[in-house]
Amino acid sequence: MPEREIPAHVGIIMDGNGRWAKKHFQPRSMGHRAGAQNFRTITRYASKIGVKHLTLYAFSTENWSRPAEEVGALMGLFKDYLREALRDFMDENIRVRFIGDVEGFAPDLQELIREVEEASAPKTGMVLNLAMNYGGRAEIVRAAAAFARDAQAGRVAPSQLDEGLFSRYLYTAGQPDPDLIIRPSGEQRISNFLLWQCAYAEFVYFDILWPDFKPQDLDRAIDIYNSRQRRFGGV
Ligand code: FPP
Repeated sequence: MPEREIPAHVGIIMDGNGRWAKKHFQPRSMGHRAGAQNFRTITRYASKIGVKHLTLYAFSTENWSRPAEEVGALMGLFKDYLREALRDFMDENIRVRFIGDVEGFAPDLQELIREVEEASAPKTGMVLNLAMNYGGRAEIVRAAAAFARDAQAGRVAPSQLDEGLFSRYLYTAGQPDPDLIIRPSGEQRISNFLLWQCAYAEFVYFDILWPDFKPQDLDRAIDIYNSRQRRFGGV
């Protein structure tokens, strides 16, 4: 059997925690806790099989509209799990980066985010991008505003703008675009995730809730990816 290709960049929309909790007669916060446990498992497995960049959608700019109790539970989980990530991802040579407007979080969470980024910056293995307070449209607007500022200050000429230059203003600057985007939970939507970067990504949707998504499901998604023929607009 030919060697399968491991996609260099995998994105996952971690969806279905709420439905998982309902299925188990538990509060939604317990679904997020189970989802956070799985975040560790899948991150470590992706690193083990040789994924170079993994982007996980943890909190969107729209998630603030959830009930205060649920938002509070999520913030608590981010703190707990980021502290743990600091320990166990470090041992696995994983570099953690955050994409999104992290200034929207409470000062203690922002401090922890900085700590995780700084401590893992020298790591040379997989890059884990955590999309937190992230929205694809907001990212594009932010990039356009930063480019406009640079143009106004004379640091760049508007005529220089092309896709390559624009992508250097995105949170993911310097990283390859995702090859594969996976959405568990049965929904078939992009939900404002990596809007610019997903132009040629292969999409795989699974009818599995995120807390039930196993390493074998990542393998299955990679097998499906390998069965696709990517043409990037060519023939
Ligand atoms: C979507 O499920 C999931 C979220 C909004 C939160 C995802 C967060 C985690 C898995 C925790 C990750 C932890 C760290 C430290 C990154 P949903 O609530 O929309 O589920 P539903 O559609 O079934 O209601």
